[in-house]
Amino acid sequence: MCGIVGYLGQNQAYPYLIEGLKSLEYRGYDSAGVALMNGSLRVFKKQGKVRNLEAFVDGKNLSGNAGIGHTRWATHGEPSDQNAHPHTTQKGSLALIHNGIIENYETLRKELISRGHVFESETDTEVLIHLIEEIQINNHCMLEKAVQLALQRVEGAYAIIVMSKDDPEKLVAARKSSPLVVGMGDNEYFIASDTMAMGQHVNRVVYLDDEQIAICRSTKEIEIKTIEDIPVTPYIEEFDSNLSILDKQGFEHFMLKEIYEQPKSIRNGLRGRITPDGEIHLKGILEHAERFCEAKRIIIVSCGTSWHAGLVGEYLIEKYAKVPVEVEYASEFRYRDPLITDEDVVIAISQSGETADTLAALEIAKEKGAFTFGICNVVGSSIARVTDAGIYTKAGNEIGVASTKAFTSQMTVLTMMALQMGKIKGTIERAELRDRVKELDRLPDLIKQALSGDKITHLIGDLFAQASNFLYLGRGVNFPIALEGALKLKEISYIHAEGYPAAEMKHGPIALIDENMPVVVIANSKENYEKVVSNIQEVKARNGKVIAIIETDDRDIFKLADAVIEVPKCSELLTPFLSVIPLQLLSYHIANKLGKDVDQPRNLAKSVTVE
Ligand code: AGP
Ligand code: GLU
Repeated sequence: MCGIVGYLGQNQAYPYLIEGLKSLEYRGYDSAGVALMNGSLRVFKKQGKVRNLEAFVDGKNLSGNAGIGHTRWATHGEPSDQNAHPHTTQKGSLALIHNGIIENYETLRKELISRGHVFESETDTEVLIHLIEEIQINNHCMLEKAVQLALQRVEGAYAIIVMSKDDPEKLVAARKSSPLVVGMGDNEYFIASDTMAMGQHVNRVVYLDDEQIAICRSTKEIEIKTIEDIPVTPYIEEFDSNLSILDKQGFEHFMLKEIYEQPKSIRNGLRGRITPDGEIHLKGILEHAERFCEAKRIIIVSCGTSWHAGLVGEYLIEKYAKVPVEVEYASEFRYRDPLITDEDVVIAISQSGETADTLAALEIAKEKGAFTFGICNVVGSSIARVTDAGIYTKAGNEIGVASTKAFTSQMTVLTMMALQMGKIKGTIERAELRDRVKELDRLPDLIKQALSGDKITHLIGDLFAQASNFLYLGRGVNFPIALEGALKLKEISYIHAEGYPAAEMKHGPIALIDENMPVVVIANSKENYEKVVSNIQEVKARNGKVIAIIETDDRDIFKLADAVIEVPKCSELLTPFLSVIPLQLLSYHIANKLGKDVDQPRNLAKSVTVE
């Protein structure tokens, strides 16, 4: 899940590389490194975040018009200076950065060792640079040829950039199952895992496809081939740069900024798709109305927070469109030989659009003839490109590793999809449809009101920050929200938390409850309200501490709970949107109180491009 970046042009490479690495740090922060070309190849690398690298290179000669940079999320070998990328060859003539996993690295390493190669790191990546060097020496070939031949021997996933001291005006990049985009400015190339690393500087981009290699030479047009050496005409797209990408706009963290952006991000997702007077027009569904109407089954594949959005989608699609829905962890789906037919629609939900497990699940769905549909946030991402059709969530860039606004935008899209399918299939009454769409139009304002309860949430967060475990309970469409609330807390505060359907508590988790256990109960829904009140009583009877999310003016639960957070009254359809807001804020304030790195929690990365 590393971030990779490369620069080749007339300017000094280092400032671009560092700037790029900072914007890619969301992908991993175990170590950072750069290689710069200036007559010779110089490599600087350091364990930890990009700022450690900056401190390390302070005062050193960093000149060079070509360079590559890497920020790592370790898969093979601990985070250390030694294992940091770029990796170089024994002769020091080549440098390489890599995002992905070389699955057959053990075999290749043994082979190379038997031929006298000496390895300096524990990474899988290092075998690749040794292999490229060996092929280049043995075949007396150009760098790109050696890269092609080496990649033909590799099993696994890669996005790589290679540079050579003997060919200083060239960068060679290639990808398979890990993202890579080549950006072009005025006589300069930027190569990166993501356009965020190049936003301000380029006006055209080319997204590489799997098993393609890009050869970038200064002052020449980009050349693309497959790794089998078949020439490919590059599909060059205009690129609209966005300068405000990395601005926290006065917020202490990106996560808090993104929580507060939700009225706007949801509005962006709704714009042009619904009208205030209750009309819905969701192009992504309408263009494939037949496939959706005739679908025997919808299978949603995703991971983490996106999987929680999928569970909300299951409730809504079954309720309004009357199609059976299954929600699967992509990582399980891909390995269990699932029963899929060409009458199924497989929907992949992914903020990044790059999650390796979700991509692999889609491949299987495609092989079996299903119609594939993507719900992604990142435009041009791999999932957006490999699916038959899809809808963008339009949440804007999400930098905080813990997903917040992308989640509510995914739920927004799923709600619209359920209603649009219901309309086409005639499974929802016209009047009801109109009412639901009108409510959806009010959602951004309701979220704004929910955010105004932040002061109370902050106080409650401070009060409970020392607890070692939390339980989250919800029912119906708010059960996935309980899972999401618990995941948010785990991710950024490192406090153990579990989400449960409220009624399941008595089948086991109730044994955990004592005076030290805060139980967060989602109680702003009127469906099964009495039952949720009983669940609260059961917790109180065992001295547990109840933090309840309630509708404004709910005096009954107010009297029962130890702490309450009020959210505005709304219809059942919107309750998950409103209940998740205080849960996001609660985890944020607890993590912040504990002094944790909210935006870049330990061991995590934003885009999980490895299995
Ligand atoms: C969200 O807070 C997590 N960091 C993680 O669970 C994430 O949702 C998951 O990795 C899926 O990512 P995707 O949406 O980019 O596919
Ligand atoms: N496998 C490489 C390493 O551990 C790259 C990791 C990645 O892309 O996440 O260094």
